[in-house]
Amino acid sequence: MRQIIAGNWKMFGQLSGVTAYAEAIRTAPPHVDVIICPPFTLLDRFATALHGSPVALGAQDCHATTQGAHTGDISAPQIAETGAKYVILGHSERRADHGETNADVHAKTLAALAAGLIPIVCVGETEAQRDAGEAEHVVRTQLTHSLPENFAGVVAYEPVWAIGTGRTPTESDVTAMHAAIRAALVAQLGSAGKTTAILYGGSVKPNNAASLLSLPEVGGALVGGASLKPEDLLAIAAAAPQD
Ligand code: 13P
Repeated sequence: MRQIIAGNWKMFGQLSGVTAYAEAIRTAPPHVDVIICPPFTLLDRFATALHGSPVALGAQDCHATTQGAHTGDISAPQIAETGAKYVILGHSERRADHGETNADVHAKTLAALAAGLIPIVCVGETEAQRDAGEAEHVVRTQLTHSLPENFAGVVAYEPVWAIGTGRTPTESDVTAMHAAIRAALVAQLGSAGKTTAILYGGSVKPNNAASLLSLPEVGGALVGGASLKPEDLLAIAAAAPQD
């Protein structure tokens, strides 16, 4: 399967930087699917700047309902209207900053699917949970309660302690977790779970991308900090193995 390299800009970036970034990222290698997930305010400008390019757009969250009195929230149909095709859901920063539960993520995932968006659902353990030997159990529980039966999307494994820290799990820890996620997806979703892409996220950089992306069941990367520089995201994309 083609690998997916998704850039999560988090709360960085301004309108003034969009055109130059989009021009640079248009040169992404054709053997991977590249997705840029900027803040909501940049989606429309990005959609224009990326018009005609294979680079796709995604948002970083959506509300669980289509419209209503929810000050400050954005719905999945509103995201789809910008031209975005993906939405990141259940990122650990949303779970921590906004108290999002697996039930919230489940409801948002249903809303995204109903709006025709492809959800990128994030799971991952904290350092304390890993130290306690609970990492796989935590991630399996997140999957069980976050993914609806009709899930058709992408899963991103992001160990919380690896995000923005420059630390990554060992290759054998990534391999073991991705195998556990694959088994859980097949048990939960049947044959659809066999092909669900499982991204790795957490301190992916140009210098570690080739080894992380070559591990079994790693279907790509969800990249935070390094995605802000187009040359770094391009280098990570170039490091992804061919089909
Ligand atoms: P970093 O790549 O900055 O560690 O962030 C990972 C992440 O949270 C992507 O969603």
